[in-house]
Amino acid sequence: MPKAIYPGSFDPITYGHLDIIERAEKIFDDLIVGVVENPRKETLFSPQTRKELVEEATSEEGINVSRVITFSGLLVNCAKKYNRKSIVRGLRANSDFEYEFQMALTNRDLAPEIESVFLMTSGEYSFLSSSIVKEVKGLGGDVSSFVPQVVERRLVEKFDLK
Ligand code: PNS
Repeated sequence: MPKAIYPGSFDPITYGHLDIIERAEKIFDDLIVGVVENPRKETLFSPQTRKELVEEATSEEGINVSRVITFSGLLVNCAKKYNRKSIVRGLRANSDFEYEFQMALTNRDLAPEIESVFLMTSGEYSFLSSSIVKEVKGLGGDVSSFVPQVVERRLVEKFDLK
């Protein structure tokens, strides 16, 4: 029964992430989404809120994930803790490659038994990122084609819009 972890900042989760989760669900029997607690970049939402938004967004879209967790420290240690041999990451464009390659090889060095698996996002989301969503919503734009309603509502609250 292949098990995987799909890690990320998810600040916040977008339709691009959900597209990758749906694709991963077809390959893996048991998928955990891992929300990093201490990302390299500063986040808009707390780890707990980012986790809740992943849970609420997957539920709103009728997507099944085994579990959503938060983790701190090394990703490979988290993968080992939950008995995962695969790390899923989404690729949007060429520009993602260098960063992903560096992370995958670092993780392989740290834990050779864990494999990184890359899934291509749908073309319609290849431009989409959490940063773009935050920028557009922060400036009062409509992000309904980028994120589920539950996420847009939380962004409206956060930016004190309306
Ligand atoms: O959504 P992101 O910000 O691109 O996700 C990055 C993430 C969380 C996968 C990466 O920062 C990570 O794995 N952080 C945990 C720390 C770690 O294991 N670092 C060593 C591998 S580069």
